[in-house]
Amino acid sequence: MNLVRYLLLLALCPVGAGLSPAQDDPVNYDEAKVPTYDLPDPLVMEDGTPVETPEQWYEHRRPELLRLFEEHVYGRTPKRSLEIRARMINECLAFGGRALRREFDLSVPGKSDGPIRLLIYSPTQVDGPAPAFLALNFTGNQSIQPDPEITLSTQWMRQVSGRGIEKNRAIPASRGTLASRWPVPRILERGYALVTLYYGDIDPDFDDGFANGVHPALDTESERGSSAWGSIAAWAWGLSRSLDFLESDELVDAERVALLGHSRLGKTALWAGATDERFALVISNNSGCGGAALSRRCFGETVARINRAAPHWFCERFRAYNGRESDLPVDQHQLIALIAPRPVLICSAEEDRWADPLGEQLAARAAAPVFRFLDSASLVYRLRPGKHDVTDEDWKAYMDFADREM
Ligand code: GCU
Repeated sequence: MNLVRYLLLLALCPVGAGLSPAQDDPVNYDEAKVPTYDLPDPLVMEDGTPVETPEQWYEHRRPELLRLFEEHVYGRTPKRSLEIRARMINECLAFGGRALRREFDLSVPGKSDGPIRLLIYSPTQVDGPAPAFLALNFTGNQSIQPDPEITLSTQWMRQVSGRGIEKNRAIPASRGTLASRWPVPRILERGYALVTLYYGDIDPDFDDGFANGVHPALDTESERGSSAWGSIAAWAWGLSRSLDFLESDELVDAERVALLGHSRLGKTALWAGATDERFALVISNNSGCGGAALSRRCFGETVARINRAAPHWFCERFRAYNGRESDLPVDQHQLIALIAPRPVLICSAEEDRWADPLGEQLAARAAAPVFRFLDSASLVYRLRPGKHDVTDEDWKAYMDFADREM
């Protein structure tokens, strides 16, 4: 972490007067109005016992924190395992033979709205299985490259103007519309495979009472409790199932899979990285509230605002903390700590104040003692100029980090 930059920002950040903004208050972008808060210590058990050995961390504190995040924030993912079948639907050389492009359908028994489709580019000029980036995408696999051979998603999709989505369905004009966020040739040149899937294949991103996507396939209880899993937990479950598949794929090295996510999918990458220790490295980009940003700062997006705008992302119980962030038994630095000692890169953008860049930095800072405790120096915070987005520069930073750490 860049300590100088951190101290500088901290000096610019006066401690505020214990304000607790109501739901309809204007969005707070004023450091002077950030409430005073105490962060729960990741290295102290709920009953006050300090964690003194790595064994205590792994056997007691880590499971305790996972349980707290499940019960209060993301919800509990059913432990049931399903027999998921994978079927290759096409395979073709791409980029002048420098890559193999393949698509696979993962069929989830009990999921009635279609398979989960993986798109995999793997470099052809490497010996043995390639390390990979695994990332969910927002608008269908066809949107990451202008390649007519990538199958067009037929799933429900949020209508975004100018992205080739009409009546909540992708149309051919959506091909390549998000290519600026996916520099596939450069990823391949650096020796990485890219594995991506549409997050709506796992659970369409709207509040339908969890009737579609994978929730009904895994839920056994007829009543959803207040800590039942939301959509972020479902998307994270889908990432783990993708990794299950990669474990049987000979072109991807499943032990070197870097999980990456932007925005709500950055929140998801952090939760997936915390719950599934097989992910070798985790990168969150502009993940903000419910991701890498400290909830207790109430800066930019708050718990009340996110629960109002996207009630299905978290468990119902999370709503009890609307305007009461300091009552949360956890804060987001502990989510980052759950990934330790595996490498974590937290990326913010200066103009993305809604996602609270300083709150993300302070969370990384407060997670650092756990990394040190576990003898890991692999936690990096990165702040770049500019807006909420994924840029070429970001990808360069991701790949430099992965080269070094994975
Ligand atoms: C909204 C939401 C954020 C989220 C973002 C995104 O801005 O408030 O929490 O990260 O959407 O995922 O695009």
